[in-house]
Amino acid sequence: MPITTVGVVGCGLMGSGIAEICAKAGLRTIVREVNNELLEKGKARINESLAKAMKRSMEKEGVDPNTASVRMAQAVGALQYTTELSAMKDADLVIEAIIEDKGAKQALFKDLDTICKSGVFFATNTSNISITEIASATKRPQQFAGLHFFNPVPVMKLVEVVRGVMTSEATVSELKAFGEKVGKAPIVAKDTCGFVVNVLLVPYLFDAIRLVENGVASIEDIDKGMKLGCNYPMGPLELLDFVGIDTTYHISVNMFDEFKNDRYAAPPLLKKMHLAGLHGRKTGKGFYDYTDPRAPKPMKLS
Ligand code: CAA
Repeated sequence: MPITTVGVVGCGLMGSGIAEICAKAGLRTIVREVNNELLEKGKARINESLAKAMKRSMEKEGVDPNTASVRMAQAVGALQYTTELSAMKDADLVIEAIIEDKGAKQALFKDLDTICKSGVFFATNTSNISITEIASATKRPQQFAGLHFFNPVPVMKLVEVVRGVMTSEATVSELKAFGEKVGKAPIVAKDTCGFVVNVLLVPYLFDAIRLVENGVASIEDIDKGMKLGCNYPMGPLELLDFVGIDTTYHISVNMFDEFKNDRYAAPPLLKKMHLAGLHGRKTGKGFYDYTDPRAPKPMKLS
């Protein structure tokens, strides 16, 4: 059965990006948040990003204004917003993008299991919680997989399709095809904590924090090093602020618990910044101070 209706549960930063790319790909997209305030916030984020994409398509791809505004209207029209989980009954695929909490995800999928139709595919956007463990809350783990998108979702090309222990081949191939349909390049990984990208990315980010801890170079010079020396779009400390110091700390706790390997142990400075509420861009301060977002200034951290 082709995927024509997608349910997105959670309309934060990741959920709104996922909903946007589904709607842009012409799929009917049902977005659910727990209350109207969060739903309105998510809707505003999606509309703002769609407007940015429309402007870009005219300026950089030469799309004429009429076609661009028709495309935007079609995407807006494909989106349906709700606070009712029961609206997921029509979905061919439900993608969960709620908080990174195993219990909350399992409880959600337990409810979805009673609401959704028999042929539905279930996917979680978790970056590091076991797919197999979340899937165990449902009676159809063979139709369950990870779909791990990257931030900002409308821009980043990758999606990791993660195969749980019980995930069927048919589910993996349907979700790969879905990833392509929404404009992403899928890679397939087995259900191991951090999948492919975070297993490589997290130790790199932690090594950058250790350079700060050891006073090897300034925050700005460490970032400059990787941007100019390796052509990375952001330096590691900028990226940590972008992903979130709190998010990265929680990832490290899960990864260290899984592998018991120092590569994934949170450097003390990361833990202190997390405890101090220096969570990066979202709180206005992390490795940089974003009081003037156009000219972030490196923080003095000891
Ligand atoms: N829709 C479509 N295109 C958009 C867009 C939107 N809403 N917003 C921006 N764009 C386009 C822009 O038009 C621009 O296109 P061109 O390159 O063709 O000019 C491009 O995206 C870049 O956007 P900006 O010019 O606005 O911004 P920038 O050049 O400063 O780049 C960035 C911003 C894309 C975030 C870039 O700095 C980057 O790639 N950083 C690294 C991000 C990264 O590594 N993300 C992964 C984090 S890890 C993760 O998510 C997983 C995890 O589990 C932790």
